[in-house]
Amino acid sequence: MRCVHKFTELEADVGVRTEIPENEIRRQRDIMARIAEMNAAGRERLALVDTFGCQQNEADSERIRGMLREMGYGFTEREAEADVIVLNTCAVREHAEKRVLGNVGALTHTKRAKPDQIIVLCGCMVQQPVMAEKIRRSYRIVDLVFGPQALWRFPELLERVLTERTRVFAVEEEDGSIAEGLPAVRQKGVKAWLSAMYGCNNYCSYCIVPYVRGRERSRRPEVIVEEARALVASGYRDITLLGQNVNSYGKDLSEDVDFPRLLRMVNGIPGEFVLRFMTSHPKDAGEELFRAMAECEKVENHLHLPFQSGSDAILKKMNRRYTKADYLALVELARRYIPDLVVTSDIIVGFPGETEADFLETMDVIERVRFDALFTFIYSKRPGTPAAEMDDPDSREVKQARFDRLIARQNAISGEIHAGYVGKRVRALVDGVSDRESGLLTARTSGGRLIHLKGGEQRIGEFAPVEITGCNTWALYGEICE
Ligand code: 5AD
Ligand code: SF4
Repeated sequence: MRCVHKFTELEADVGVRTEIPENEIRRQRDIMARIAEMNAAGRERLALVDTFGCQQNEADSERIRGMLREMGYGFTEREAEADVIVLNTCAVREHAEKRVLGNVGALTHTKRAKPDQIIVLCGCMVQQPVMAEKIRRSYRIVDLVFGPQALWRFPELLERVLTERTRVFAVEEEDGSIAEGLPAVRQKGVKAWLSAMYGCNNYCSYCIVPYVRGRERSRRPEVIVEEARALVASGYRDITLLGQNVNSYGKDLSEDVDFPRLLRMVNGIPGEFVLRFMTSHPKDAGEELFRAMAECEKVENHLHLPFQSGSDAILKKMNRRYTKADYLALVELARRYIPDLVVTSDIIVGFPGETEADFLETMDVIERVRFDALFTFIYSKRPGTPAAEMDDPDSREVKQARFDRLIARQNAISGEIHAGYVGKRVRALVDGVSDRESGLLTARTSGGRLIHLKGGEQRIGEFAPVEITGCNTWALYGEICE
């Protein structure tokens, strides 16, 4: 028994050590104040933050904007007038990297006209050593480069660039930490991202994320609940808890808390809001999660459950640790708890060695589950991952043809599911403007399906009963029932 107790203590110790000490955060805040003072001396300084990739990056950009604001920067959308340009990059597919490098190339002209402009590259792409080296050598207009693990040190790094006028690189390999108490500037509106955890330990063989975002680490539940409470108090109505694999939440904490328990805690916050989460990994999602979803009135009826491939052989090569049968059984179980559940998924087509027979297994999963929507990707080779070393005999054309078949079939299914909404009445959260000229707003169903509807902008933030009057493959059309 004593031995077990000791182990718990040790784990608690590890949990504490991943959080950046308060005095370190205070030091960053002091630096922000110093830079703000410097900036206050002259004309107004402006910054531009451009985000590539996933919601986690969006959440990181909110912190970057928060720090920039505290350093006295205003914001602009125009590159030519920005004193600081931050590109928060993504590495998940090659396409995203090419877009970033294209953007950096284009900034050469902007910087020529404004030589004291500071160009910052951060995020997952630059955390790869080969990429950091490429930027060091070939993209000399970039002044500051830092990876996701160094985000909390942005003030300190920027100060070095400003005062020493040297290029600064902070891309050392790190397991990662948690920095609480940093400011954030969130997009105005009703929807907010809330990070529950960072990093990933799964090492799916195609994926770069575990190499660039470090080990899984969970924020303390009380910090998450407090942040959610503050979001609700400031008018956000749709909160999404984020993590690469939210179902691992809490495993690294000494508190007795897991993801279903966290859902229940956030659900308990008073106020009118809805709660979503992403992403779930099929190997870790289970009955406790579905029970919590069914029992928590604020948790929406949406499960994003990536399956990646329907072929057991490919799933094994992907290191996903479940089979097609496991996946189908899991969706069935989820639907038993939440009968009108909206299920969405991620799929990779053209993984190395995928045969026509493997692909047909993927198509079969689509037929059986009938997803409401899919995020589909053609496999992109990521240097440094195990899949990059695997034989990949199929041509781009073969992969593209499979991809097109998959999309065509899914579009038909999504269209059929959407047609089933027509004539029904749903409760939806009005969340933005669809088209100002024609007076169209956007709203979301509980399952997260998009509705276009007529209404005045004062309705944004309202939960309204909506009659669905029409649809297409991607969206529903409706009218607010007065
Ligand atoms: N190639 C294509 N798609 C990928 N994804 C992750 N890595 C790759 C890759 N190398 C997809 C997966 C994941 C989603 C966020 O991105 O489907 O679930
Ligand atoms: Fe990548 Fe797999 Fe982790 Fe998702 S679970 S981030 S696909 S390694």
